[in-house]
Amino acid sequence: MRNYGNDKKSAFEAKFEAQKLAFAAIAFQAVKALRDLGILTVVEASGKEGLTVEEVAEKVNLSRYGALVLLEAGLSNNVVWLKDDKYILTKTGHFILNDTLTKVNMDFTNDVCYEGMFKLKESVQEGRAAGLEVFGDWDTIYEGLSKLPQDVQKSWFDFDHYYSDLVFPHALEYVFKNSPKRIMDVGGNTGKWAITCAKHNPDVKVTILDLPGQLEMAAKNIKANGFEGRVEGHPINLLDHSNAFPKGHDVIWMSQFLDCFGEDDILELLKRAEAALDDEGALFINETYWDKQKYEPATYSLHHTSLYFTALANGTSRMYHSEDMYKLVEAAGLEVVDQIDDMGVSHTILKCMKKRK
Ligand SMILES: C[S@@+](CC[C@H](N)C(=O)[O-])C[C@H]1O[C@@H](n2cnc3c(N)ncnc32)[C@H](O)[C@@H]1O
Repeated sequence: MRNYGNDKKSAFEAKFEAQKLAFAAIAFQAVKALRDLGILTVVEASGKEGLTVEEVAEKVNLSRYGALVLLEAGLSNNVVWLKDDKYILTKTGHFILNDTLTKVNMDFTNDVCYEGMFKLKESVQEGRAAGLEVFGDWDTIYEGLSKLPQDVQKSWFDFDHYYSDLVFPHALEYVFKNSPKRIMDVGGNTGKWAITCAKHNPDVKVTILDLPGQLEMAAKNIKANGFEGRVEGHPINLLDHSNAFPKGHDVIWMSQFLDCFGEDDILELLKRAEAALDDEGALFINETYWDKQKYEPATYSLHHTSLYFTALANGTSRMYHSEDMYKLVEAAGLEVVDQIDDMGVSHTILKCMKKRK
């Protein structure tokens, strides 16, 4: 039985919230323009004193009109406030300007998702990422990741790496508890985790499974770090379920990976992992589950990240509720033998082994 949220707002509050949603796309672009045009920066620099609209316009080289319409939108979005004709930065404005999490999420939303979201409705109706047409003629964004425009690719990687960077240092200790000698990193992307492992332990060898485009980027990073002998790429389309995983690894690592697939594909991927493990081997699944978040803003982010998968990534996957993942693990012939929540900030790692017969 799942529960979330309530309906306790007054009619006034509810209607105001409805207006915020009705204008959300405009509010987003207004706040982003306030950030990118340097308006929030000059307002912040003026401290508690604040700046008049004329002073802002002059400092950022905009017309009075341009500065005014953005600053007035900033008032209603609570990024600046107005005292005696002077604009002063609010705490929300401070976070828009200085908080890495907010920047990463905002740039990802704008650069990767914004245009494609016009096709969200078609995406759910047709079960495909209809918004991906904005970038290319691929079935999934992963096929095109290495060919995305540079600014879009940067925002995609900044988003992905921000979350993995938070969790990898903690995960390392956990995964290396039993001193694995060979690790398979499924969906290892540009090699961040594999390189982190190789740095952590001088004996470990890592095999990265991913699409050829990502492995080309990984190869450059592996070479730059001098790990050619210990980290290798295994090009594979993981959606071809007739293609078995290579055997001989003590640990299989799937990080921020299963959320890239719909439930039917997850089941097949987990079965293939199960088949590749020996009795002592372990599969570690590192994910952010929306029901496991301590803080409401994290759940809010995850519910919206799901829609990136819907309209841009593949049209089938999402950020999961943990119970959905437990069911799939079980159905694949695996059992969760250990679990750590709140890794980094928001990740859960499930340690799974073959179900004892
Ligand atoms: C969200 S990234 C996760 C990267 C990394 N594991 C991390 O924790 O940051 C998902 C990875 O899965 C890979 N992937 C998605 N679909 C794939 C497919 N069909 N075949 C091979 N790899 C795939 C992507 O290329 C990407 O590198």
